Amino acid sequence: MTATKGLEGIVATTSSISSIIDGVLTYRGIDIDDLAEHASFEEVAYLLWYGKLPNQSELDGLIGQIGEYAVLPAQVIEQLKLFPKNTNSMAALRTAVSSLALYDESANDMSHEANLKKAIKIQAQVPTLVAAFARIRNGQEPVAPKKGATIAYNFLYMLTGQEPDQVAVKALDQALVLHADHELNASTFAARVTVATLSDIYSGVTSAIGALKGPLHGGANEAVMVMLEEIGSFDNVESYINAKLANKEKIMGFGHRVYKGGDPRAKHLQKMSRELGKLTGNMELYEMSVKIEEIVTGQKGLKPNVDFYSASVYTTLQIPRDLFTPIFAISRASGWTAHILEQYENNRLIRPRAEYTGPVDQKVTPITQR
Ligand code: ACO
Repeated sequence: MTATKGLEGIVATTSSISSIIDGVLTYRGIDIDDLAEHASFEEVAYLLWYGKLPNQSELDGLIGQIGEYAVLPAQVIEQLKLFPKNTNSMAALRTAVSSLALYDESANDMSHEANLKKAIKIQAQVPTLVAAFARIRNGQEPVAPKKGATIAYNFLYMLTGQEPDQVAVKALDQALVLHADHELNASTFAARVTVATLSDIYSGVTSAIGALKGPLHGGANEAVMVMLEEIGSFDNVESYINAKLANKEKIMGFGHRVYKGGDPRAKHLQKMSRELGKLTGNMELYEMSVKIEEIVTGQKGLKPNVDFYSASVYTTLQIPRDLFTPIFAISRASGWTAHILEQYENNRLIRPRAEYTGPVDQKVTPITQR
């Protein structure tokens, strides 16, 4: 038995949800470039769950269902108020999603209908949780979601309590489309491993949030912003990045386990970053990002991934830095739950083996002699 570090190149399951073939990402066979330009996040979530794009009445039905489920149980809001105000927002989300199960009477109902309904419910409630925690920690009351509004609109509305700008809603909606699913990424794998024991959907999503939090995965978008803040201005980019590379430190937002020729999602976020910069009259973050890309790609051949330009996009949308990874979770909730449903449909316990590298032929030494 020989281990493959990080399971690189291992095909661990079959799936009909999303694929990465020759660097092209598709959801249910539709190119992400097409979806990014022509579909809303709710259409994409429907596509991931049901395997086809919705017609208008199916889409309206889904938006209605999301509106109905988006309100949080009062006990969960009370719980958010007890969290330390300075707690990590992904840690808060992880705990809060786990708590949602306590107030869902169907949490352990394993029928497909019940699990599909819970998938939509989780998708509806995650944005409300993220926005509610963001307000509560600032001493503000949470804002209830608007019925009939999209997730992108509602998230910005619940965060600020103000009618969001249409450009911001459109940009966030497209970012949600781009992050919705990504084959067997680390957090989706974590979700599938968890539910393959026939544990419940909330356990699967809680595991996924824990996996997404790390800076080698979803946490990279926040880490990119930390880096941009540390650099401070365009003039400092070259010396900062060269010093990092000389030190053999990783540049957050670059590289990918699967894409070696570039992440197809990054160009959309780059375009969005440029357009939002132009619109707000502040191009500095965009220009700094382009310069970083020029140096890192030039020296290391590494291309930006989905997290790199999303940092400047979200900052330009005036979203606090520590909500970047929770926004990723808002979007990926659709992919996680689609994969969980698929896992239940054709389940087998996921239990790989380890190549043992420890000592052999050891004996118990009596405790007095240790
Ligand atoms: N900056 C500098 N060097 C890098 C980077 C980077 N961002 N990424 C990879 N490398 C180098 C490594 O140092 C290593 O070099 P070496 O062979 O000389 O030791 C080589 O490229 C291979 O890197 P690994 O980390 O082994 O590649 P792996 O496939 O395991 O990792 C990962 C992929 C985790 C994404 C990596 O590229 C990375 O850490 N990037 C930064 C974090 C990041 O942006 N994560 C988000 C990924 S996208 C997502 O999850 C949503």
